[in-house]
Amino acid sequence: MNTGIKDTIDKLKAGLDISDAELALLVRETGENYLRECADKVRRENYSDKVFLRGLIEFTNYCKNDCYYCGIRKSNIFSQRYRLSQEQILDCCKEGYELGFRTFVLQGGEDPYFTDDRICSIVSAIKKAYPDCAVTLSTGEKEYCSYKRFFEAGAERYLLRHETADPVHYRKLHPESLSLEHRKECLFNLKSIGYQVGSGFMVGSPFQTTSNIVEDLRFLQKLQPDMIGIGPFVAHSQTPFASCPNGSLALTLRLISILRLMFPYALIPSTTALGTIHPRGRELGLKAGANVVMPNLSPVDVRKKYELYDNKICTGEESAQCRSCLEARIVSAGYKAVTDRGDVVPH
Ligand code: 5AD
Ligand code: FES
Repeated sequence: MNTGIKDTIDKLKAGLDISDAELALLVRETGENYLRECADKVRRENYSDKVFLRGLIEFTNYCKNDCYYCGIRKSNIFSQRYRLSQEQILDCCKEGYELGFRTFVLQGGEDPYFTDDRICSIVSAIKKAYPDCAVTLSTGEKEYCSYKRFFEAGAERYLLRHETADPVHYRKLHPESLSLEHRKECLFNLKSIGYQVGSGFMVGSPFQTTSNIVEDLRFLQKLQPDMIGIGPFVAHSQTPFASCPNGSLALTLRLISILRLMFPYALIPSTTALGTIHPRGRELGLKAGANVVMPNLSPVDVRKKYELYDNKICTGEESAQCRSCLEARIVSAGYKAVTDRGDVVPH
């Protein structure tokens, strides 16, 4: 490894800022051992060997948006649409609670059926039944007052990836009806309301350049999110990007390590998309600096339908199987699964 790269990694590790050119070099560099070792060290200093579990409930695959990369985009007429009832969602939480989960992540497309009243009712019901659990929402772009109502109903965390911080790249991934400006506004609104906020982007999305990635990292520095989710782009056969190549495993892992050094305190998931492009992808993500996994708690009969991309893993397993499979993977990677709420450490 050239000494320039080592110096750059050491600077990042020491909490110093580096130039865009140095960051770009690090993103492109392929000798990743030292980077990974430093990231693992920083992760252990902040979180020891803990890996937090979040129970993921995919509660609707209806979406009014038409993002070009996404399998549940509204123009995908082959998608079999479903919504879970409040009762079904609570059943998922019950099963999850028994399996030890203390965070529930409600994720869905932007589905107008789920009005603010309905979301608030679901959040309050979960908080009432499981006051010791955190509720995370991931339901897309909403107005300030909606986010505020969800927060008052008891949702403490919100996941909304910015997808790409470059407006020109953003336009290549999304139709006119969506804007990067509004997405960023949503993220800052969520922060100002008091949510623990998660953002992030896809790695290797079509047309993405190294300088786009540098801009993504710079945007995250401005936002200072508590959670950062990244995963490889994976093509979905019924989208305009069907024939685009998937994002690379090595680049995703390198970026997880860079994120760990830049955001030592962050909660970084080792994502399902990473597990989809490589059989040991999630273990490698943990070793690269990730400290969260999100086992699927959705009812088995809907899992295949929440298909953001082709060949998504964990769609045939029961929740209990998913949990024990992940626990074994965490242990094999050299870490320990913990079931507490896993709030972000003070920073
Ligand atoms: N490949 C990988 N990730 C995807 N997402 C949506 N479509 C894809 C895809 N084809 C990601 C987006 C979204 C998150 C829920 O899933 O980043 O924010
Ligand atoms: Fe936009 Fe699904 S259509 S994330």
